Amino acid sequence: MASAAPNIASRSASADLTQRVERDRLVPLWNFFNDWFTPVPKVSAQPYLWHYDRIRPAVIESADVISAKEAERRVLVLENPGLIGKHLITDTLYAGLQLITPGEIAPAHRHSPVALRFVIEGKGGYTAVAGERTWMEPGDFVVTPSWAWHDHGHEGEGPFVWMDVLDVPLIRFLGANFTEHYPEERFPEGPPVNDSLHRYGSNMLPVGYERKALASPIFSYPYSRTREALERLKQQDEWDPHHGLKMEYIDPTTGGPAIPTISTFIQLLPQGFTTEPYRSTDGGVYCVAEGSGTVKIGEGEAAQTFEYSKRDIFAVPCWHPYSIQAKEESVIFSATDRIVQTKLGVWREQRQ
Ligand SMILES: [Fe+2]
Repeated sequence: MASAAPNIASRSASADLTQRVERDRLVPLWNFFNDWFTPVPKVSAQPYLWHYDRIRPAVIESADVISAKEAERRVLVLENPGLIGKHLITDTLYAGLQLITPGEIAPAHRHSPVALRFVIEGKGGYTAVAGERTWMEPGDFVVTPSWAWHDHGHEGEGPFVWMDVLDVPLIRFLGANFTEHYPEERFPEGPPVNDSLHRYGSNMLPVGYERKALASPIFSYPYSRTREALERLKQQDEWDPHHGLKMEYIDPTTGGPAIPTISTFIQLLPQGFTTEPYRSTDGGVYCVAEGSGTVKIGEGEAAQTFEYSKRDIFAVPCWHPYSIQAKEESVIFSATDRIVQTKLGVWREQRQ
């Protein structure tokens, strides 16, 4: 049975109590109960798409403004219009476009937030994790695990750009955010190039292997391998109506996610395919590796439709339905906080 609305006398008594208890650092829950306990999630992030061609000149110009060494990480942050001043792309994820020019080194450091890179353009750039280099190509997905020393460099020609996604908001919220700078520009050279990929990413494990960290021991997921798998799998007849052909990047030693706090996916949509509207509680960052089309995000009058093409990045806020229409065959990378929500038992999805 619904309770009766409070009468004027009790409203003023409540306001009086609110005022009197304030000095004792007390706040009545009933003043904000309905703000907190909402029938559906309240989300600050808004649907948004960054056209790479539009923002690329500014990314390239950033090299004239500051060196990678001075900036430590020369990044233009993708700030969601619903999160201005918070420097976030969704309510729970940070993302930015990082530029490195030939000969530059982004100096070695480590931090408790995990970072992932999705390579946008360039040739000859590398990331070194604990001294082990991996050369990066467009479409590669690279992980720098929590508290792992890492530096970046560029020994090719022309600009090298990748998208960073970090779990900084979550780690800051938890009060577990630490950063340390290595005394030298580069961490000492470690194992041979791509050693971890060969050792752990070939359907084998070294005998006696013991897992030492939560992140995948592979920190490079080359696009050439990913694309080949998608190419072979697309020969199948059945497509998920909401996702097309969608795969999750995993830690091969556990079958779990590649990163303990960020779920990462790659999906292929054939030309002319339109996904059925789908929503879930994990907001996400999407980067177009190949193709073009449109994405509709949101529902009712608030829904927005964006044209996308290769290298564009879009944000799908938590619990916003979205549908992708592929004008050309499209391959889209995405990163969300699904794994955190799954571990906490609060993740939900709705296929519409
Ligand atoms: Fe870093």
